[in-house]
Amino acid sequence: MTAAPISEVDAPSQHFEVHPFDAPVGAEVVGLDISKPINTEDFARIHRAHLAHHVLVFRDQQITPQEHIDFSRRFGPLEIHVLHQFQLKNHPEILIVSNIKENGEPIGLGDAGVYWHSDISYKPNPSLGSLLHAQELPSEGGDTLFADQHLAWESLSPELQQRILPLKAEHSYLAKYEELRAKNPWRPKLSQAQIDQVAPAVQPVVRTHPETGRKALFVSEHFTTRIVDLPQDESDALLAELFAHSVKPEFVYRHKWALHDLVFWDNRSLMHLAAGTPDHLRRRLNRTTIVGGTPF
Ligand code: SIN
Repeated sequence: MTAAPISEVDAPSQHFEVHPFDAPVGAEVVGLDISKPINTEDFARIHRAHLAHHVLVFRDQQITPQEHIDFSRRFGPLEIHVLHQFQLKNHPEILIVSNIKENGEPIGLGDAGVYWHSDISYKPNPSLGSLLHAQELPSEGGDTLFADQHLAWESLSPELQQRILPLKAEHSYLAKYEELRAKNPWRPKLSQAQIDQVAPAVQPVVRTHPETGRKALFVSEHFTTRIVDLPQDESDALLAELFAHSVKPEFVYRHKWALHDLVFWDNRSLMHLAAGTPDHLRRRLNRTTIVGGTPF
């Protein structure tokens, strides 16, 4: 007789620890194996740590794509990225982030994250959080930076806070698409069906985290095109000021990847940026993206 699988409810505790980084955000979770069942109490601790530190690093996770998907799904439904060309075969919930080309064809999105952004802010329901799992890493470069948008909001002058609090901004997936495609001709030409999936969304310039109640700046150089109801020159000047402020070094944690790191960040609290990989070196990561609620 084969043993019944241990359910999430009665699985033994994994006795892990959470070690905050000496950085504005981020913590390492030590002693947790994502491939093993995680009971509800342990899961609640991970959830609390995620809310407190905004980015969690789980080292050396030897997980399959399905285990990556299953763990991600415990936080919410998963996004299917509009660039279906870069889905992992048989796992459409995974977007391949990679600069590798096989037989001249890109296997993944090679320039993901080249501008600061929060994932999927261009849709009415942007992402709650994303989980990136390192499959193959370059010997140099390839870091990912995370900027705390709660600190960015809290450190604005009261006058600027008051000015931007009621404002809304448009976010568009297409904002930089053609510019990126001109630099990276391997980027696919979007079909009309893909364009229809990413109609621009209007979002609050300052959002409130639905679980912690903390306010965060919510504009990005990648996707935010304009402040609604402001003349273009005023909108451009205000956005330039907010973009520069939002990524000041004192808000940033820089992640240096190790093989099989699984990094889970909160898109409601952070923006992130891929620092870049030298062209001759190979980098490949698998990403799941959890769908979030409507920002308010
Ligand atoms: C992303 O923006 O999801 C990719 C980040 C990275 O490749 O470091």
